[in-house]
Amino acid sequence: MTEYVILLAPSANRVYADQAARLVGAELAILLHQDAALDRVTLAGVEYLAVRVADPAELAPLGFGSATLALYRKDDDHLLPVRLDRPDEFDDDLVTIPKYSGKTNEQFTRLLINVTLAARPAARADRPRRPSILDPLCGRGTTLSTGLTLGYDVNGVELDPAAFEAYAAFLRTYLRRKRIKHTLTVNPVRRDGRHLGSRLEATIAPRPDRQFKITVFTGDTRQSAALYGQRRFDAVITDAPYGVAHGSHGAGRKASGRDRSAANLLAEAVPVWAEQLRPGGALGVAWNTYGLSRTDFASIATRAGLIMVDGGPYAELGHRVDSSINRDILVAIKPQ
Ligand SMILES: C[S@@+](CC[C@H](N)C(=O)[O-])C[C@H]1O[C@@H](n2cnc3c(N)ncnc32)[C@H](O)[C@@H]1O
Repeated sequence: MTEYVILLAPSANRVYADQAARLVGAELAILLHQDAALDRVTLAGVEYLAVRVADPAELAPLGFGSATLALYRKDDDHLLPVRLDRPDEFDDDLVTIPKYSGKTNEQFTRLLINVTLAARPAARADRPRRPSILDPLCGRGTTLSTGLTLGYDVNGVELDPAAFEAYAAFLRTYLRRKRIKHTLTVNPVRRDGRHLGSRLEATIAPRPDRQFKITVFTGDTRQSAALYGQRRFDAVITDAPYGVAHGSHGAGRKASGRDRSAANLLAEAVPVWAEQLRPGGALGVAWNTYGLSRTDFASIATRAGLIMVDGGPYAELGHRVDSSINRDILVAIKPQ
């Protein structure tokens, strides 16, 4: 076994304050299919995450990591830099340019996608199929753009037409400005002559041999299965409304005054999302535990026929964001 150490991007501390090493240690353990979060080590006053592997090829998934800055092999007292291949298909400004209130942090979004996809049994296959992702509360598209960057096909549903329009406009301008080959259309969705909303469809080819597809509908997430029909996804990944800063559109307020609508929304939407998963597909939801406890959310997922993934490093993903938000990630699998 050889020991390697991983240096984290300093920006990870801005996202999670002093919790970055724990969260990223859990994320990287999940990507490497290890049973426990990676240990922290301090060398010459600098903190790293440590991992031991028999074959350096096992470390390839580290390039997907949300905060992996550099990898070193530890040789006695020396650190030898090791090349890390990144999967990124687009410049990181695809995800960082849009700035708006209610945006999910970009690094956290990448972590959310990684820990969800890695929970699928198919993620352990030698040559896993390229996964398709649905973000059924996609806002202005942070999950969609991050998913594209990681090389996945992405799909979304968003209630707010202004958020949908803003993402469509951004994507169109970005792809033109970067001269990336693509087709992008926004069309009305009609049924029985009634205007139901809009659909964005795009095919994006950053390289001649790589082509990604993106579809986004405006609409209520509880209608997501009706909007996508027979289509099934390898993962449903979303950052749920926090019931604090930017609110949600469901009904209900608790006596304490805390907006309980995210809890109601999740109770109604999770069964719909579960139906849209392929067997062996994964649900990954980031949410505020102050509006819905982990135990209550787990029973919503279990009632929808999903199997919770909550041992080892998956139990290390909860963290404080501010005085009104304690964020956690629920991951569950649809049985095969
Ligand atoms: C936490 S935000 C997601 C932000 C997104 N990840 C981003 O960075 O742009 C939750 C989103 O859910 C949307 N939403 C709330 N209730 C909804 C519903 N019933 N159906 C569809 N979207 C809904 C909100 O409009 C908001 O854009």
